[in-house]
Amino acid sequence: MEFKIERPQDQKTQELVDLALAARNNSYSPYSKFRVGAAIRTADGKIFQGCNIESCSYAPTICAERVAISNAVATGHKQFDTIAISSDLKEEFITPCGVCRQFMREFSKDLAILMVRPDGTFSRTDLTVLLPGSFGPESLEMPR
Ligand code: THU
Repeated sequence: MEFKIERPQDQKTQELVDLALAARNNSYSPYSKFRVGAAIRTADGKIFQGCNIESCSYAPTICAERVAISNAVATGHKQFDTIAISSDLKEEFITPCGVCRQFMREFSKDLAILMVRPDGTFSRTDLTVLLPGSFGPESLEMPR
């Protein structure tokens, strides 16, 4: 996978990147010590944050992306524009895990994804790239 490095060019992107980075500060990750923060912008311009929350029983651990999305959905927002994800990785770009990709897919086929480094640089991708040929809610013909 090729990562093109970008810097925020507008205030909206800067804000989302900053909030994803700030969300890392609430990370509860005593086991992995791998802090992750996320910020998701809804179609109507609201931003919800999330951080990873680990469990001593390991399996219940939840990723930052799913916490951010859950925060949004729990307050009535299901249409999303962009999610920014951050970690403490200085060289690499944090990519969402497979479970989070499928969780995103529930609400969007082509969500824009910014993978953010601590210095605010990021690489942009989207769900069509990270989860091609995906299974989605339409397949079940269920109303959302
Ligand atoms: N983690 C996330 O929060 N998001 C990802 O996309 C990758 C992994 C978390 C889960 C766990 O708390 C820690 O990072 C190490 O896997």
